[in-house]
Amino acid sequence: MRPRPARNGDIACPGESARTARLFYALWPDAATRDALAALQAPVHGRTVAPDNLHLTLAFLGSQPRASLPLLDSLLDKLPDQRFMLAIDSYGYFSKARIVWAGPSSTPDALLWIYNALVNALDEAHVPYKSAGGFRPHVTLARDAERVDGDGEWAPAVSWPVSTIALAESVPVQGGVRYKLLATRTLA
Ligand code: 2AM
Repeated sequence: MRPRPARNGDIACPGESARTARLFYALWPDAATRDALAALQAPVHGRTVAPDNLHLTLAFLGSQPRASLPLLDSLLDKLPDQRFMLAIDSYGYFSKARIVWAGPSSTPDALLWIYNALVNALDEAHVPYKSAGGFRPHVTLARDAERVDGDGEWAPAVSWPVSTIALAESVPVQGGVRYKLLATRTLA
């Protein structure tokens, strides 16, 4: 079968099939929060994430047929409609993956409600997602990185007014990836 031509917004990139997309749901920061999160990268030694790519993943779906996008978009409507403040107050380190991240030292109920509603909606729709190790809310700041000692006065203190949940696509670009927002839900 001949590959169909790329359409606007449906550009075939190296490593990406026109029929599938590498997808995830995430909390997406507003511009001020993005800048505050990017400032947390200052003491990090490693391959830092581009500021526009900073986010907090709720569920990683991996490669999915593009034909599923309307369904996946509609699941955003099933999430609780409540803004909340998320305190990003600690650095963390995934030593195996050598990832430095920032995240909440305790997960607020409002974030758990959103996460639980999302995975319930995915389960009901029979959409697979990766859940190894359960939900560990974090914003990846850098990869191939060394652990950061963020104690005391250096502890992160970002107050994130969470209002946007996104269905995002990971698009390979030269030298890395770019995250493209395919659908967003703005919380009341
Ligand atoms: P990370 O920030 O911990 O690297 C897009 O790739 C997003 O999906 C990233 O936030 C990434 O998490 C997450 N992700 C990528 N592969 C994953 C996997 N196999 N399991 C869970 N999350 C994954």
